[in-house]
Amino acid sequence: MCGIFAYLNYLSEKSRREVADILLNGLSRLEYRGYDSAGIAVDGDRDDRTEIFLFKQTGKVAMLRNFVDTQTVDMNRKFVTHAGMAHTRWATHGQPSPINAHPHRSDSRNQFTVVHNGIITNFKELKTLLEKKGYPFESETDTECVAKLALYLFDQQKATGKPITFHALIKMVIKELEGAFALLFKSTAYPNELVAARRGSPLIIGVKTDKKLKVDFVDVEFGAEAPPSPYYDAASTPKLRRTTSRAFLTEDGEVQPMEFFVSSDPAAIVEHTKRVLYLEDDDIAHMSGGELHIHRLRREDGMSSIRAIQTLELELAEIMKGKFDHFMQKEIFEQPDSVVNTMRGRINFENSTVQLGGLKAYVQTIRRARRLIFIACGTSYHSCIATRAIFEELAELPVVNELASDFLDRKAPIFRDDVCIFVSQSGETADTLIALRYCLERGALCVGVTNVVGTSISRETHCGVHINAGPEVGVASTKAYTSQFIALILVALQLSADRISVAERRKEIIMGLNSLPGMIKEVLAMDSDLRQLAKDVLFKEKNLLILGRGFQNATCLEGALKIKEVSYMHSEGILAGELKHGPLALIDETMPVIMIMTRDSIFTKVQNALQQVTARRGQPIIICNKDDPEMPSGSRVIPVPKTVDCLQGIINVVPLQLLSYHLAVLHGVDVDCPRNLAKSVTVE
Ligand code: F6R
Repeated sequence: MCGIFAYLNYLSEKSRREVADILLNGLSRLEYRGYDSAGIAVDGDRDDRTEIFLFKQTGKVAMLRNFVDTQTVDMNRKFVTHAGMAHTRWATHGQPSPINAHPHRSDSRNQFTVVHNGIITNFKELKTLLEKKGYPFESETDTECVAKLALYLFDQQKATGKPITFHALIKMVIKELEGAFALLFKSTAYPNELVAARRGSPLIIGVKTDKKLKVDFVDVEFGAEAPPSPYYDAASTPKLRRTTSRAFLTEDGEVQPMEFFVSSDPAAIVEHTKRVLYLEDDDIAHMSGGELHIHRLRREDGMSSIRAIQTLELELAEIMKGKFDHFMQKEIFEQPDSVVNTMRGRINFENSTVQLGGLKAYVQTIRRARRLIFIACGTSYHSCIATRAIFEELAELPVVNELASDFLDRKAPIFRDDVCIFVSQSGETADTLIALRYCLERGALCVGVTNVVGTSISRETHCGVHINAGPEVGVASTKAYTSQFIALILVALQLSADRISVAERRKEIIMGLNSLPGMIKEVLAMDSDLRQLAKDVLFKEKNLLILGRGFQNATCLEGALKIKEVSYMHSEGILAGELKHGPLALIDETMPVIMIMTRDSIFTKVQNALQQVTARRGQPIIICNKDDPEMPSGSRVIPVPKTVDCLQGIINVVPLQLLSYHLAVLHGVDVDCPRNLAKSVTVE
């Protein structure tokens, strides 16, 4: 979904850097979250008056950068100022255009500017009310009502003659909003200040300072009011009195001001600092004068009164493309390492045991579950399909797979003795997160399987597993799929640790896991052959069917999803057992087909499907085990190494990932940012 970023410094003019540049760099790190338009708001650079400049452009961040460059040259300005905020958009309300791009403003004087990730569900009511009060709108977005509401409440407060702090004003704004949001506010009435607020969408604040601080947390202030802005009304403003939070004192008791970087995602922060804190829902963070104060709408039972400053374990190099042309390509090629990282420290190959620290205390409860319910979307859902059979076999529990959106539409019954497992790369997908809250309310044990650390899903579940695949930037999920697949296998292995009857099977799987990285490397070595195949056989085609069954059903679905999302070619994954119940009608000599025919216990059934296809003059490309004597050889065969049946999908999906990547490149698609999509879908 959209990406938001802001920067605020307290530095003297000499040591300040150009804010616009920092904002644009931050945006380019977030571009994968949405990229149909982008914009920034920066403080003016004249000390004698407060002003905010807005620059907005349709298209990607590079277009905005050109626009900002030409505009600032025309204006003869350099924004070496204190604060700015930025947004890259994935349109939900109103088509991509500069006017619908963020930041949105309260009025033509830009008194309040806002960037937003999420959806304001009551925006129509607010818009009607504000229009009636004389606050005209210029965009079709839901966000604009937030900026207008801030100005309306500010004007109302001003009429009472009583000054109000920036965060107290934003508290009033937030109280009126329904829906999900991460919001950032700037105002000409509060220059050099920034307020951030979240409900349902992530927000992270990076803090940068040279000195060692006295404590590693920021206190949450419940109801305590910081002093009002001195700029509010110069004549009536009381003398500035600031209470310094413990977080800003060094061990010697000195006050240590900080620079702040606020973002929806650590990717934009890590190049500046690794020290971050995660805001909780309904936190309002107020940054000014080098300090950060966190306020809350109300005090809730059990709510922590501090926000810990944590250290990000993310390296800048991990989110750079390196020698690769695209993040998707880089992430496909990272899989020999990312699968090792998923297993690292969790498997004892000598005694064939698995230990997932995050589940340790819950294993017995999970074993006693009435049902295991896996809930996810898209690729993450496919990893649940891929591992369902092994959960049934090893844990001997009934397993249900649910697409989060459909699960919510049906309001499916959930019981206290159900165990619900939420699988999400980003940990922030709205459908999955709302399904999690639904299950928590019904008393089920909720387990998270996420990649990004510190996300809503990992924080709100009772326990969980991080897949440790490293940052995934390409919109099409690749290495997260194989790591989710492995993480779920590890969960099934841990749950079955004391089942003697499956001891041999467990050993076989654990040995298989050990040899996966080498096998993935073998498949990656076929990259140029797969590129040729994409070029010679599939590039000109409009459709593609991918057929398989059993453990390979998920591989077909995931391969087809990859191909359609990055190459825009219509592609369908079909369970081969269903072929004769309808899809066979599509088959003739012109219909491109890929068949997955690696060896397992249902191989003869897949051979039947092959015959059904060839009898209709179909000429499938076959993914099969290398050196399989019953398989043809030649350019229409993709030979892959053979592993344990339940792990074979990890190997088989890799050629499909590579094919989809090459088809996308051949079609000239912007591989990492395919049209209409976003990496993290934080709206329902
Ligand atoms: C496809 C893809 C999406 C995501 C889906 C869920 O390549 O990336 O289908 O898998 O949007 O996202 P997460 O896993 O972040 O919950």
